[in-house]
Parts: sequence; C-alpha cells; structure tokens
Amino acid sequence: MNNLFDNVFPEASSIPEKFDVSYVEQREYLINGELRHWPGVLNKVQSPVYVKDNDSYKQKVIGATPLLTSIEALQALDAAVEAYNLGHGLWPTLSVADRIAHIEKFLSLMREQRDEVVKLLMWEIGKTLKDSEKEFDRTCDYIVDTIKALKELDRNSAKLVEEQGFMAQIRRVPLGVALCMGPFNYPLNETFSTLIPALIMGNTVVFKPAKYGVLLIRPLLKAFQESFPPGVVNIIYGKGRDTVGALMETGKVDVFAFIGTNKGANDLKRLHPKPHRLKSILGLDAKNPAIVLPDADLASTITECVAGSLSFNGQRCTALKILFVHKSIVDDFINRFTAEVAKLKPGMPWENGIQLTPLPEPGKTDYLRGLMEDAKRHGAKVMNEQGGEILNSFFYPAVLYPVNEKMKIYHEEQFGPIIPVVPFEKDEEAIRYVVNSNFGQQVSIFGSDSKKIASYIDMFTNQVGRINVNTQCQRGPDTFPFNGRKDSAEGTLSVADALRVFSIRTLVATKATDGNKQIISTIIRNRESVFLSTDYIM
Ligand code: G3H
Repeated sequence: MNNLFDNVFPEASSIPEKFDVSYVEQREYLINGELRHWPGVLNKVQSPVYVKDNDSYKQKVIGATPLLTSIEALQALDAAVEAYNLGHGLWPTLSVADRIAHIEKFLSLMREQRDEVVKLLMWEIGKTLKDSEKEFDRTCDYIVDTIKALKELDRNSAKLVEEQGFMAQIRRVPLGVALCMGPFNYPLNETFSTLIPALIMGNTVVFKPAKYGVLLIRPLLKAFQESFPPGVVNIIYGKGRDTVGALMETGKVDVFAFIGTNKGANDLKRLHPKPHRLKSILGLDAKNPAIVLPDADLASTITECVAGSLSFNGQRCTALKILFVHKSIVDDFINRFTAEVAKLKPGMPWENGIQLTPLPEPGKTDYLRGLMEDAKRHGAKVMNEQGGEILNSFFYPAVLYPVNEKMKIYHEEQFGPIIPVVPFEKDEEAIRYVVNSNFGQQVSIFGSDSKKIASYIDMFTNQVGRINVNTQCQRGPDTFPFNGRKDSAEGTLSVADALRVFSIRTLVATKATDGNKQIISTIIRNRESVFLSTDYIM
C-alpha cells in the first residue's frame, strides 16, 4: 500500500500501442453543414494522465480544440435559426419516418467510430476502458430506443379522437432551436440524451461539447455533417462565457438543454431576454444520501455503497455523496467498507481490473484536500489507510468519519472520491437532512424492516425524484424517468419523456359535422397534409 502511487502513472514506453493517442490539433467545427477551419487560438487538451520520466512526471497534452468567439457561435445560431425557418424549414416539416432515417444513418456512421471515441474517453476524462465502452454502447442503445419510442408515439398519434362533438388529431411538433450542452463526466452519453431527442422531434440544434471530453466529438463531426441537412446540427467549441452567453442574449434559443452546475444554468438562463419563451431541461447538482438502517444486510449494502460512491471516482451526478449510518452498526460498517475500498485498484484507464483513475478537472485534488482538511478541523478522521493521498491528478479515496453539519463536506457536492459518513441515532436526523437540503435528486435506503422502509419512502416521495431501496442511486435503466427536485433539475428525462420535453402537442380540431368530416376524410384519403394523416410507421 505504501507504494500505491509509485507505478500508477506509466512511462511512455509502457503505454500499450492499441490505447496510445497521438496529438490531435483540431481546427474544424461544424456550421450550416460545412466543416469550417478555425485559424485562431486553440485550447490545449490536457489528459488527467501523467507520463513518468525517471523521477519526474509530465501531464500528457493530447491535442487542442478551437477557442471560437461569439462571432462563430452566432453564425452557428443563425444557421440553426435558418434551418428551422420559423417552423417551415425542411427539418421541422419532414415526416417522422424521414427524420428517423437521418438518425439511423448517423447511428451507423457513429458505430464505426467506437474505438476512437472510447480511446478518447479514457484519455480525456480518465474513464476506465470498461466504463468508456459502456458509455458508448449505452448511447447507441439510447438512440435505438428513442427511435422505437418515437415510432410508438407516432402510431398512437395516427388516430383521430372524438370528444363532446369535436373530432381532432393531436400530434407532437418541435419547439424551435435547441442549445444542447452536456457534462464532462458523461460527455457522450448525457449530451446525446438531449441532442438526439431534440433532433428527432424536428428541432434544429447548436451543440457545444462539455468542458472536458471535447476531442472525442471530433470523430463524429463527419457523421453529423453527412447525416443531417445543413444547419440542423451545428457544433461549436470554446469557452462558455464567450460563446453560449452570446447565444442566450439573442433570445433566439427556444430550448436550453443543459447538464452541469446550478450556477452555470442560472447564469445562462437569466441572459435570455424572453424567459417565458425559453423551455429549459436541466440536470444539475445533487448530494444523494444513503441511509443505512440497523437491520441492513451489510454485505450487499457495502457493495452498493462502494459502487455508489466510487464508480468513476464519485464523479457521477447520481453518486452517493454522503452516508448516514446508524450508530449501532457504524463501527462494523466502517471496518468492512474501508476493507472493500482497499481492494479497489488504482491505475490507468486501459489497464485490466482498474477502478480508480486520475481526475480530469485541474485543481480538483486541491479542492478535495481542502474539504478533507476542513472536516478534520471539525473532528473527522480519515478512516482508511492512505485515504486522501495525492499524486498529481490522483486522489486516493478518503473515508471521513464522524461527519457533522459544521463541515463543508456535509453540504457541498464533492463530485469526487471522498466518502463522508455521518452517524445517526434517530430517523429524524437522516430525514431532516433530506428535507432541508437544497438538492433533491435521489436517496438510497438500506434496511430489511418493511414498515420502517415504507415510512422512509413516504417521507421522501415529495423530496426527491427517485427513492432506491437496498440499491445505489443511479440514472438507469434509461427508460425510467430521471429528474430531480429543488436545485437538482428541471424537467424529466427518459427515453420517452425526452421526446415530450423537446416537443409540444398541437392539434387540428373541428366540430364533427357531416361537412367537416367530409373535408377531413378527403385530406386524409388524398394525403394532402403531412400533419393530418392516419399513416403510421411500422
Ligand atoms: O452524472 C449523472 C449521470 O446521469 C448518472 O448516470 O447513474 O447511470 O451513472 P448513472
């Protein structure tokens, strides 16, 4: 254990050729169907991986991406506005079947880039090979399921309804121009979980990749270009404040799909001059607690809590970020929990059996160290050997105990490998934490007494978006609704819900007189309208 970090970073010669990357200077970006060349300043892409050279370490620079300005961002927006053309553009008026065909083409081109995207996920954000592959495959499955859900929606909308002497057809139509931005921890999956539904419902899009995990979109640029009509997808790069701020100020963004911080969402939303015309779909901060009751099955609880708090080093919005453990079992819990943490292997993302990897955010290890020192000042101890040790971008997980409300870690979302454990005696102590929290994404309850679990469930149904019983917090399966209360989210995402949030229902209605029925049936029989139609996709 003492030599934990000695060999954690590789020497250049020991990086397997299959997983090595060569420097990529990206100058292209996609506007109006053209891959344009950026001659200006670039943003360095630094990997969380350091390369060892004798006794020194050098952070690997794997490429650079364009630092566009508000000028290019506004050109992208203009292209999207023009492609939407006040709802009369080719894309928003295309039939559902035709739009699906474009998405299917994109999916097949995207699948060809799997190895490249997976490799960049490892190098850009330090995600393990297994999890990077999972992210790619999950995203492809999400696209397949989205197509399936849209076909079902289309089938259900193909019939006319009759109500109180009216007949009508109700269908979902696009909202306009969407701005889609995803987070660095799922730079492919979470971004595409808004981008794809936005597109398939007929919106046109400006898409800005996440803070880190930017280069991995590059292998897909051609696929976007070849799969969609000009202006339907526009991909820009650069600093948020220089680019997306300018877009919001125009008032031409109709849908704001953003997965990131609460502060980022607030700052951008308030720039829009017509708040009521802006629909927002937001996935924001969370501080999901686990509550471990005295009769919890400790073996399975610990397995869930270790995975819940440390998968991808705790960098998941759904991660368990604070553990409330009943006083009667807390010592046993900590002994067994720390023993399991000690089994997690640190290493490079491409190595077999690795669970702990370096962190991509600059300054993150200092922030985590600060949280740990603050907790220690207020009486917590690091309970695991070498907990909180740092080498460059590596932070070895720290289990902190006993944690109390005076500590920053009790309140702040650490988004990293610190596991605060709070001992509690009375149910109210854990319940109060959830009720008084500014966050409201999910909670996990571990126990075996059905009555007790039921009472916790009922306490939390109006507090959070999902209550997990003897299971860690998580987003999946992607067909389940994913949302949050309070500062944690706006809107609900799932395969089916996402189709709804990026669209609005419009209906054609008429009094069901003989004359009107005649007109409607002629339109349908002669296929005179795209909207008013009983055709559906098999
Ligand atoms: O970072 C937030 C993600 O939506 C979490 O998804 O629970 O599947 O890891 P996950």
